[in-house]
Amino acid sequence: MHTEKLAIDPASQPPQDSYKLLIGSVVPRPIGFISSVSAGGVPNLAPFSFFNAVCGNPPVVCFASGVRQPPKDTLANVRATGEFVVNIVTEEIAEKMNLTSGEYPAGVSEFAIAGLTPVASDLVQPPCVLESPVNMECKLLQIIEVSTRPLGGSLVLGEVVRFHIDRAITQNFRVDAEKLRAIGRMGGNEYTHTRSRFEMIRPGV
Ligand SMILES: Cc1cc2nc3c(=O)[nH]c(=O)nc-3n(C[C@H](O)[C@H](O)[C@H](O)COP(=O)(O)O)c2cc1C
Repeated sequence: MHTEKLAIDPASQPPQDSYKLLIGSVVPRPIGFISSVSAGGVPNLAPFSFFNAVCGNPPVVCFASGVRQPPKDTLANVRATGEFVVNIVTEEIAEKMNLTSGEYPAGVSEFAIAGLTPVASDLVQPPCVLESPVNMECKLLQIIEVSTRPLGGSLVLGEVVRFHIDRAITQNFRVDAEKLRAIGRMGGNEYTHTRSRFEMIRPGV
């Protein structure tokens, strides 16, 4: 048993320490690789591991953009256009995803920097990433300004209005994790594969 636990009051700690506790403990985190476009039409691509699915009907996803002045391009673009695309990050495109996380100036397209291919979406302006096997076209539902303090963030909720799934990795709407090969984010600069899995049947009560 874990008998010797430290009790930590986040209010009396530097925010960096709480942040480290969060990202080291909330693991593995899925990565939403978010494409967006500026009001002027410049495409943008960046990874967000404060990302998850929220509910199934309608299908809703969320991600959180950390406080920055000026705000991160992704957040500014979603605020301006109300649209984004979530692309799932696989082992194959992991390093390209990492390249896009540099703090490039707003006029720079991370598609070009990473050598990823933008493909026109059906219903939204931001393009899908061709090299990602799953793309979700999203319309903004709500932005919750959770905190404007340093290391605070804004939570973006978006409704998925179109899925694009590689036929080779899905059957009957079930996605084959072995073929998807998604990666997850751990603390610091660490990542995890999703190759090792186990099954548990839920109690039938
Ligand atoms: C794997 C990974 C996950 C990240 N997750 C987040 C996140 O959840 N929230 C955030 O604000 N930044 C996150 N970042 C940093 C952003 O990707 C980075 O600030 C990026 O430059 C933002 O780009 P933008 O200004 O084009 O939106 C992450 C970076 C990496 C590599």
